[in-house]
Amino acid sequence: MVDIAQLWAGSKRRNNAYYLGRQDARESNARTYARKLRIAITRAHGIFVEDADGHTYYDCLAAAGALPLGHNHPVALEAMRRAIDEELPFQTLDLTTPLKDAYTDALLATLPDEFAARARIHFCSPAGTDAVEAAIKLVKTCTGRGGMLAFQGGYHGMTQGALALMGNRAPKADLSGLMPGAQFLPYPYAYRCPFGVGGAETARLSAAMLRSLLADPEGGVLAAGLVTELVQGEGGVIPAPDPWSRDIRQITRDHDLPLVVDEVQTGWGRSGRLYAFEHSGITPDVLVLSKAIGGGLPMAVLIYDKDLDRWKPGAHAGTFRGNQLAMATGLATLRVIEEEGLVAHAGAMGERLMGNLNRVQDELPLLGDIRGRGLMIGAEFVDPDGRPDQLGHAPADGMAARAVQTECLRRGLLIELGGRHGAVARFLPPLIITGEQVDAVSEIFYEACRAVLDQGLRHRTAGLG
Ligand SMILES: Cc1ncc(COP(=O)(O)O)c(C=O)c1O
Repeated sequence: MVDIAQLWAGSKRRNNAYYLGRQDARESNARTYARKLRIAITRAHGIFVEDADGHTYYDCLAAAGALPLGHNHPVALEAMRRAIDEELPFQTLDLTTPLKDAYTDALLATLPDEFAARARIHFCSPAGTDAVEAAIKLVKTCTGRGGMLAFQGGYHGMTQGALALMGNRAPKADLSGLMPGAQFLPYPYAYRCPFGVGGAETARLSAAMLRSLLADPEGGVLAAGLVTELVQGEGGVIPAPDPWSRDIRQITRDHDLPLVVDEVQTGWGRSGRLYAFEHSGITPDVLVLSKAIGGGLPMAVLIYDKDLDRWKPGAHAGTFRGNQLAMATGLATLRVIEEEGLVAHAGAMGERLMGNLNRVQDELPLLGDIRGRGLMIGAEFVDPDGRPDQLGHAPADGMAARAVQTECLRRGLLIELGGRHGAVARFLPPLIITGEQVDAVSEIFYEACRAVLDQGLRHRTAGLG
């Protein structure tokens, strides 16, 4: 019999430096988080993780929002144990099981009635990017058109089609031959308004541009669908104003253009509603989900109107589409979210965090904008001495953000950066975070900002990684 304890024994014996050194030597140059968050994680519970040096951290990264209940939630663990005890298969391709049936029921029940009644579900390979690929294929097949509309600052994943629809140019810079036909429109990012006007006008003009593009016989693009997040995440935590969401819903409907809403990050409570589209009352034609819906284990699905279900058998296959453990933890997670009122809790905790961050902004000149929805919050760093843009806002300061991230790490807080120039500190804590924990996180963030400001650390950490 294999001795599992023996197999794992080595992994708990050394310190951070040991594991990081080996990781640096052996893992790909394309690694990401591991470059900035220089720890080796040994244990995790709730909102906390521990590293190999024995330090504990508040985890406001939560696997990029994939852990709505935090680490090792007892209900998720129980669901896994039960699945194992009942000898469920690990994987079933797309064959059905009683658990899959129950998961599908529960998933459909989360949707607005009119959407659920007409919905078809496609279980995808377990990453958000695969569900985005599926969405692209679906709308192309249905419309017979080849172009795709997306938004500046959007993030949809790292595979070829999803990447082609990503705003950030850096990951595409070395690649030729990405999916052709992607066209980008300005997103309603009022603080750095693409039209140079700011405020509510930003959203109005963004929608007007889409309307004109689609109505214009010389608009140039034959689009199969429009893909959007309703709170841009990686792009810098930019919530779309509700009137804008309603406008793009109306415009796409007027032009028979399928609206693909990417809720990979916002789905299941993150924005203070179960789905971000609920804020504006719209329903998408195609909904892309991943992250939270597996309760911490990998899962991705596409949900769409049955009129679009015109692709052929095998149009989007894949081996790992029937992960029973993920369905068990996903189902259990949804129950906890519902029974413990975690969606409303996320809204309340988000407001508390925003309030705290606004106070930090009032006191320290290095934060230009605090924004977000629910527990998806961003703080944009600016260089107060830099030349203001046409709206009078100081320039984004990625170096300050990076220095604050490092200082947060030193003080026991994991946060991620996003946005243009990496200047936005992103808070994505598990939805179970308590008020006291929100305050503790805010305090650490404040101390980290203070240290960067007082000691000029911005310059010391510049240029790392
Ligand atoms: C909005 C959005 N779409 C798609 C993806 C891609 O998901 P994955 O990293 O699981 O491929 C992400 C990942 O962060 C995301 O935030």
